[in-house]
Amino acid sequence: MLDHASDDLLARARALHLPRDFVFGGATAAYQIEGGWNADGKGESIWDRFCRKPGAVIDGTSGDVACDHYNLWQDDIRLMTDLGLDAYRFSIAWSRVQPDGQGAMNPKGIAFYDRLIDGLLAAGITPYLTLYHWDLPQALQDKGGWYNRDTAHRLADHAETMARHYGDRVRHWTTLNEPWTFCWSGHASGEDAPGLTDGVKGGLTASHHALLAHGLAVPRIRAAAPGAEVGVVLDLNVVEPASQRPEDITAAKHFELAQNRFYLDAVFKGRYPDELLTLCAGLLPDIRDGDLATIAQPLDYLGVNIYRRSVMQAGTELPPLNFARVSPPGDYTAVGYEIYPPCIHDILTYVHRDYAPKAIHISESGMATRPETPEADGLIHDRQRAAYYIDHIAELDRARQKGVPVKAYFAWTLIDNFEWAYGYTTPFGIVHVDLETQKRSPKLSALCYREVLRARR
Ligand code: NOJ
Repeated sequence: MLDHASDDLLARARALHLPRDFVFGGATAAYQIEGGWNADGKGESIWDRFCRKPGAVIDGTSGDVACDHYNLWQDDIRLMTDLGLDAYRFSIAWSRVQPDGQGAMNPKGIAFYDRLIDGLLAAGITPYLTLYHWDLPQALQDKGGWYNRDTAHRLADHAETMARHYGDRVRHWTTLNEPWTFCWSGHASGEDAPGLTDGVKGGLTASHHALLAHGLAVPRIRAAAPGAEVGVVLDLNVVEPASQRPEDITAAKHFELAQNRFYLDAVFKGRYPDELLTLCAGLLPDIRDGDLATIAQPLDYLGVNIYRRSVMQAGTELPPLNFARVSPPGDYTAVGYEIYPPCIHDILTYVHRDYAPKAIHISESGMATRPETPEADGLIHDRQRAAYYIDHIAELDRARQKGVPVKAYFAWTLIDNFEWAYGYTTPFGIVHVDLETQKRSPKLSALCYREVLRARR
């Protein structure tokens, strides 16, 4: 018997009625869950290296073991089955399948994803495969990483190799996860691997090469895996100025250009926003003739990761962008994100109106809390997270009913895991993981999510 508050949430979950063919899944990423960082011939990645830098990760931890998914993947598939998930979004650790990011392959690493994919298919769960979720092989970083144009070609080769190998079983392919975050947090501000602090020049250079990698990879995937559905995952924000002061409006505009439009315009329109290029003149990467045509490949879907809105005012961050984030009164998650359910409706309508992708997936949505403990009945009653999912899915449905072609939703994340620079201090899972015993226990949010899935009609 659940208490009233939890019961009410389950009832609210049952009252959502998405269509039968709407896809619901769970999402993870290799470095955050696999562990086995050097098992069976895996090479070092930039995150393996970065976590060893004192102070890089808040609690001094790493993904060395994480959720030990490398060994416990069957348990995790069982969890997905119990929750009734249609789909599972995961990423390939590039340095597991190809330790140096080029040259020799690692058959044992390739076999791991064979087992995972075959296990998912046997369980009736559709795999959604992401080729790059931030863990660049360190050997490529040693050659300049995303500052080196050649990395784009290495990722395209990787994409083709993976598509040749898994393309007979995997239909849904994503090239990159969140280029804004891994390029800017990794190269402009330095809070993520590889920890470079090169400001706007660093963010833009890494981003251009990452987008080029995407553009080069798409046709290689299609050629190697006929019938593949290919897309990219962008982390987008609903951006609002903190006031009607012209300098706040300008700051909000700069942030929107850098985080949203730089990627969306490149991928869907084959150009970078002129205003941003003018503002950042002198800090631009080497953009060669034909690069933008390469980047603007036709896509089958756009994946959108959306967690919050961004209210911006004039400030000193990332000159000459010169913005600062404002936190309006409201509820906030453990990583300081405002809880603002309309963000999902607003971003879907924005993308549909301005870029009209064939289909849109919400490839990540979810919230962080502080580490949680079970109540007397043994369950973690993460009511705020359960409400977060219900409210955000309701907002998604509002956009869908207006005609936005949103086809899938993935909860971030299936299991509590390594949250990058936050280590294990801010779990996002709908399933709790005891890091001592590796025991998995679904939380109230998982039970509510299951009700949303069951209530489709
Ligand atoms: C986006 C990233 O793709 C994922 O790796 C991360 O854990 C979540 N957001 C939460 O911050």
